[in-house]
Amino acid sequence: MKVAVIGAGAVGTAIAAKIVERNLADVVLVDVVPGLAEGKALDILHASPILGFTRTIRGTTELEACLWSELVVVACGRTRQPGMTREELLEQNAATIREVAATLRAYAPGATVLVVTNPLDVMTWLVAEVTGFPRKRVLGMAGVLDAARLRYLLGQELGVAPKDVSTLVLGSHGEQMLPLLGYTFVGGVPVKEKISQAQWDELVRKTREAGADIVRLLQKGSASYAPAVSVVEMVEAILLDQKRILVASVWCDGPYGIRGAYLGLPVLLGREGIEAIQELSLSQEELLCLQRTAKEIEGLFAKVASLRA
Ligand code: LAC
Repeated sequence: MKVAVIGAGAVGTAIAAKIVERNLADVVLVDVVPGLAEGKALDILHASPILGFTRTIRGTTELEACLWSELVVVACGRTRQPGMTREELLEQNAATIREVAATLRAYAPGATVLVVTNPLDVMTWLVAEVTGFPRKRVLGMAGVLDAARLRYLLGQELGVAPKDVSTLVLGSHGEQMLPLLGYTFVGGVPVKEKISQAQWDELVRKTREAGADIVRLLQKGSASYAPAVSVVEMVEAILLDQKRILVASVWCDGPYGIRGAYLGLPVLLGREGIEAIQELSLSQEELLCLQRTAKEIEGLFAKVASLRA
């Protein structure tokens, strides 16, 4: 099995390392910066005698090395500077993503593509448009990360292991992300029985701002470890055909009263990519929030389309 990881920044490199560490697939790591992907690949391989993995990883500047990959993770492009929103990366990253997607169309026509580049939902949509791949094979990672952040915060608040907290965060990977109170449980017990509305609102606020907080602290670069772990959770679900139910940025044309937009929804994830969208029963307010978010993402996508390179 072959996975291509495009972008050897902090996120792409961590993803590549985790894929080989778990012996999931051989990896080709691609970056336009001369020597970067090659150097990172060697560094990871030097850990193989200690960690015991046998999968290989090759670093290159050639995008065409994604040839016949089964899965491609798109993790290239700029990250935010302190004070920036993800949407402010739109123009710069759209140009990069167009080029990458055009190469994927030619060289990896059978691949499933998992996008990590921000602004996430719009860049995922752009990959789908440029590649023309069936939309069940083009998806983005955000909800797994946003949920992980909320699970961590709830675990801290309640003094329980974050692993025993479950939740769903739908919508956009941005200011409009929608954590679902009614689908949040602690050891199987609805979280509503454990915290007040005010506590919940505060944790939601912190979850929304978590990515920006890290950007502000680092001053240079953005979160990479938790994003990479979240991506690999999805990579594993796809490669091993696990039929996981995870939130991914997906093409929605009908469910939730949304006609044609990429946004975060719970899906069944397996070898075929998005095998189904799960329809949850939501409050009127939550539904309206999702529909409004879809419109906003559509607006951003129209902006990208008008930038035509
Ligand atoms: C974050 C970036 C990856 O949320 O969007 O940290």
